[in-house]
Amino acid sequence: MHPFDPGYAADPYAALVRDYPGTDIYPATDFRVEWGPIFHRGRLDGTARVLVIGQDPAAHEAITRRILVGTAGRRFQGFLAKLGIDTSYVMINTYLYSVYGQSAGNAHTGDDNIATYRHGWLDALIAHNPVEAVIALGGLADNAFHTWRKTATGAAYTGAYQHVLHPTYPDSAASSGTDPAQAMAKLLANWNAALTALDGTITPDTARPLTPYGTTLTPADLATIPEADLPAGLPAWMRSDEAWASRQGATPAEKRATITVQIPADQRPFT
Ligand code: URA
Repeated sequence: MHPFDPGYAADPYAALVRDYPGTDIYPATDFRVEWGPIFHRGRLDGTARVLVIGQDPAAHEAITRRILVGTAGRRFQGFLAKLGIDTSYVMINTYLYSVYGQSAGNAHTGDDNIATYRHGWLDALIAHNPVEAVIALGGLADNAFHTWRKTATGAAYTGAYQHVLHPTYPDSAASSGTDPAQAMAKLLANWNAALTALDGTITPDTARPLTPYGTTLTPADLATIPEADLPAGLPAWMRSDEAWASRQGATPAEKRATITVQIPADQRPFT
């Protein structure tokens, strides 16, 4: 059997995906609008107890059309697994499109129209799910949560809230000179604190003793993206723990226009 994500057949989600913001609200100078909006990952059937707010989609997400399926997604799937949450979650991003350029993400944190559409998702998800905890990945997502809190629906939310470092914080910190091992240790200490705060607050799908992270991320700390989270028929290697999509190009414009997809060497049935 191959479970799959049926998508956005029914309202309120059908209405949200039918009427998404375009380049008038997400300028093409600051967002990779050419790859289309990518809306969510996880349950839309009213069973989500954890609502995750990510940042913006990247290359893998542009192909699978679901968010948080690359490195960040696999790391955070492992975090949820430690809480016993295997299926009862739903995720949206702060931004519907991939941010283009380092400062673009920060430049649009106060955009009312971006927030209004995102609030449509948050309101729908909160209204239709028994959400026990909201978890924001990174500063932009934290800002998105607090912006929503200023609305009537956001103010009425009474569940738990945790803001954690973004799953790829170590990678971005290392690229700006921080020692990679220290950056990873910082992420994992931050996540351990959030795990401790959330443990017992969220009803698990599978009760398991909390196993905190050490100072390095081990393969056992990652979890595979469930098949049921992706559109029907996507091959299993798209959920594997290896990278398979990357932006390529000799010029910025070519790189923006090109995502190379390559099946990981150990996942090829023809070799
Ligand atoms: N991919 C996403 O969809 N969101 C993130 O925050 C990071 C990667």
